[in-house]
Amino acid sequence: MLKQTLLKATEAAAIILKENFNKPFTISNKEGLNNLVTEVDHKSEKAIIDIIRHDYPEHYILSEESGEIVQDSIFKWIIDPIDGTINYANSIPMCCVSIGIEIDGKMEMGAVYNPFINELFFGQRGFGSTLNDQIIQVSNKADVATSCLATGFPYTYLDMANGPLEVFGRLIKNGVPVRRLGSAAIDLCYVAAGRFDGFYEHKLQAWDSAAGFLIVEEAGGKVTDLKGEYYNPYQHGIVATNGKIHDELLRWIDDKI
Ligand code: IPD
Ligand code: CA
Ligand code: CA
Repeated sequence: MLKQTLLKATEAAAIILKENFNKPFTISNKEGLNNLVTEVDHKSEKAIIDIIRHDYPEHYILSEESGEIVQDSIFKWIIDPIDGTINYANSIPMCCVSIGIEIDGKMEMGAVYNPFINELFFGQRGFGSTLNDQIIQVSNKADVATSCLATGFPYTYLDMANGPLEVFGRLIKNGVPVRRLGSAAIDLCYVAAGRFDGFYEHKLQAWDSAAGFLIVEEAGGKVTDLKGEYYNPYQHGIVATNGKIHDELLRWIDDKI
């Protein structure tokens, strides 16, 4: 039943993304100049929340654009109505709906759906991860030098030691391909599917990674914070890999190579 509601909500939001794609819609700014929110983010979020509230009125909801519906419940839905809003606003079909479900403080189920190429990633703790119902697994790459990585950059720039620019520079100066798709949830799912060998980012929010990090773990990958410690989506830094390159990638990030 939880899974049904999750998929129903994901699908409802995806229809809204498709219906409004490449059409005129209002765009406004959040904190920074390029931290955008569109009318479609709000519509997508409303569709998701309406479905969850209908099926589970007592559940807690944390959603990017409308904040929290605080409830005394062990169930918490963590929603990103469009991950990759800048792509969406520029008619670039590299974006998705991302919803994770935490039970008693532990992420248990997640769905990430890019409706433009019809790719639905789903993960459930203890049951593995799938892409359109086919089991997926992380890659086998064993060193960073031959890996294909992904990252993202915060809108307000963090020009600090071992910050986003420095780490990116270190990797690309050494010839390591580092992609920047513009959707952290998709980046994570691509690690899960073995398309990327690793992904790191310095400043994510819970809704960016809630579903995707579980999908990576359930596909056999490893997810930690930037120091290699236990990952929870309420802190900003993330490193997600196939497991084999994890310790080495942590050393690249921490300038210990
Ligand atoms: C953003 C994307 C992007 C990441 C940013 C996020 P949004 O989410 O996931 O890849 O680099 O940090 O804020 O704003 O498109 O939902
Ligand atoms: Ca996001
Ligand atoms: Ca978003």
